[in-house]
Amino acid sequence: MVSRPGWGSQNTLDLIQVDLSRPVPTGLAECLSPDELARAQSFGFDHLRRRYLTAHLALRDVLSNHLACPAADVSFVKNAWDKPSIPDGPYFSLTHSDDLAVIAVDHDHEIGVDLETGSLVLTREEMAGVLSPDELEESGERDLSEADFLRLWVRKEAVLKSLGKGTAHDPSRLTVGFHAVDFDRWREVSTVDDGDRHVFHVLDIRMGTVSCAVARRDQPLSMGPLAFRRWTPPWSSSGQEDAAIDTKSLA
Ligand SMILES: CC(C)(COP(=O)(O)OP(=O)(O)OC[C@H]1O[C@@H](n2cnc3c(N)ncnc32)[C@H](O)[C@@H]1OP(=O)(O)O)[C@@H](O)C(=O)NCCC(=O)NCCS
Repeated sequence: MVSRPGWGSQNTLDLIQVDLSRPVPTGLAECLSPDELARAQSFGFDHLRRRYLTAHLALRDVLSNHLACPAADVSFVKNAWDKPSIPDGPYFSLTHSDDLAVIAVDHDHEIGVDLETGSLVLTREEMAGVLSPDELEESGERDLSEADFLRLWVRKEAVLKSLGKGTAHDPSRLTVGFHAVDFDRWREVSTVDDGDRHVFHVLDIRMGTVSCAVARRDQPLSMGPLAFRRWTPPWSSSGQEDAAIDTKSLA
């Protein structure tokens, strides 16, 4: 994979945007693990398979630059709730929605990122079930738009992904609030899990009309601006774009 100077510095949070609409060239899937290939193969639709492959090739490419190793050598473990991590590696989080993915990498703190490109994945009634008592009260007092709920939802999922349990941790036990979007201010939130209090800081991320938030365990980022990059596929200048993977041969 191509080395990109400057990636992987300490005290920064790298946020990388990935376009999942591009075809994946033949040969690159070989850097994925058997598990990743099997997961890709399990998708019934080509566009879902392509999105998964591109997201995971991008994830390996980004992490290989942080670890200074070949993409195929990045090896993941998963916790009981399926959160992937790299032993002794940087913390990272991946989110995808339609043809867009975001990868967050942080060397110092556990991280969670979430984005939603479309409309709300839950109905308002279902949303009520994931609101904390404070959020329920706020939702009753204000005329909230779908955008307000989406913003709350990505904040909440970002925290739950940073915690590592996803929605297996009751989302109503966490208050992130409906406050207006704020791209500059990390807000402290906390939740109790197995008797322990866990503290996070959440930040809204500017992405046009897309709702996106990142959560960092314990401390907000204290130094420097967020590095937001667009991922350039290593094959984009190699003329391989048209030689898309024959996804039927992945298994
Ligand atoms: C994590 C979770 C919130 C993601 O929801 P989502 O909005 O559909 O998906 P996103 O695109 O934002 O994130 C998906 C990515 O999050 C990561 N992820 C998976 N489980 C995770 C977890 N428990 N915590 C943090 N991140 C997780 C993976 O990288 C995944 O990417 P992949 O599906 O391409 O492998 C949801 O899947 C969840 O709650 N999972 C835990 C449920 C559970 O109890 N699992 C037990 C094992 S059966």
